[in-house]
Amino acid sequence: MENIKIDISKLSSFVSNETIASYEATAKRSLKALYDGSGKGNDFLGWVNLPVEITNEHLSDIEETAAKIRSKADFVVVVGIGGSYLGARAVIDGLNNSFDYLQTTRKEPVVLYAGQNIGEDYTYELLEFLKDKSFAIVAISKSGTTTEPAIAFRLLKDLIESKYSKAEVKDRIVVITDKSKGALRVLANQEGYKTFIIPDNVGGRFSVLTPVGLLPIAIAGHSIRELVKGAVDMKKLTSMDVPFNQNPAMIYAASRNELHKRGKAIEILVNYNPKLHFVTEWWKQLYGESEGKDNKGIFPAGVDFTTDLHSMGQWIQEGVRNIFETVISVKSSNHTMTVPKADSDLDQLNFLAGKRIDEVNKMAELGTLVAHLDGGVPNIHVEIPKLNEYYLGQLIYFFEIACGMSGYILDVNPFDQPGVEAYKKNMFALLAKPGFEKETEAIRKRLA
Ligand code: PA5
Repeated sequence: MENIKIDISKLSSFVSNETIASYEATAKRSLKALYDGSGKGNDFLGWVNLPVEITNEHLSDIEETAAKIRSKADFVVVVGIGGSYLGARAVIDGLNNSFDYLQTTRKEPVVLYAGQNIGEDYTYELLEFLKDKSFAIVAISKSGTTTEPAIAFRLLKDLIESKYSKAEVKDRIVVITDKSKGALRVLANQEGYKTFIIPDNVGGRFSVLTPVGLLPIAIAGHSIRELVKGAVDMKKLTSMDVPFNQNPAMIYAASRNELHKRGKAIEILVNYNPKLHFVTEWWKQLYGESEGKDNKGIFPAGVDFTTDLHSMGQWIQEGVRNIFETVISVKSSNHTMTVPKADSDLDQLNFLAGKRIDEVNKMAELGTLVAHLDGGVPNIHVEIPKLNEYYLGQLIYFFEIACGMSGYILDVNPFDQPGVEAYKKNMFALLAKPGFEKETEAIRKRLA
């Protein structure tokens, strides 16, 4: 059985193996702190053991709820933002057939997203589209008070109530929120919606293996048991008793911290598979919110290659040398397709005739690796054997545990996000929210 592998051999011209190996004690201390709860933010470590603690009954409850929603709705709107939607979307986009949503005869409901922005046109168009469709809503908010999803949920709730009977609405709304706090919990209790709990000790960006991620993923028709199994196995592969030089999470956490120390301020997560776009978005939040504080942290960026080689390639090759790349490479595609032979050969591509598209992609990857190394861009390589539930489960846990360790190595609290509040305070002041009178006056004066 293959596993996700990390390869840092291409760092050797930038950082020696000995330097990375010198992180062994720090990395182990960081992992130990995650396990025994002796580090910063230890109220939010529920995700560490989550994969091994998920019960069969809990998974069955999620699967049964998903089956009910799937049997009723052609479209399911996942309402949430940040950690309350990115994990689900990363897995769903990673596994869905890219064009199935266009098939009128598809088996699976189409998962749509709302509340991840405040775009009036986006929201209007979504509601217009849903007017004559059979749909259901999964409303996700840990706090239950986040503005973006709250606005979207209000509108969607009005629409669904205008279409269905009270009993039917109850069958078409599922709420995932805190066990007792927040407006969404109060509403769900009042209306009698089916609910799932986001554990107190799991923060949004670490919540993909709770119902926050698992329910939408199951609704989309993917195996949450395989996903969890992958995470369980990655927990073993990254545990304390796996030696540093075989422990992918320790190697990753150590390497990126050392590169950061050497002036690499930006980490670019690269993929060569468009289905991984939202894995990058999820990863950006995971690392950005966990490490970007106390005037510290690597800026997490992302590109989809080869697409972005035609837009960002120039910058990466020859721009400021303060970047490094972490490439997620999928070893085997799920389908086979070859380049056809053309009689005229006008585009002079007959030399590729009969070659797999994936081979061309892999050569683009290798060529880019060499070019970027020549251009002074250090490269960390993460190989996934295949894109499926099991390996995405491995990948999620790998990045999560490495993120916790990396944050501790950087000496920040990886589990809070105090900076996210600043824009909210100003927005509420500008919108004259009751209770914000002083802030409203102050910000209006400042902007006058
Ligand atoms: O990681 C986080 O904590 C945040 O991104 C939250 O998930 C996001 O702000 C949404 O919060 P909530 O689930 O409370 O609506």
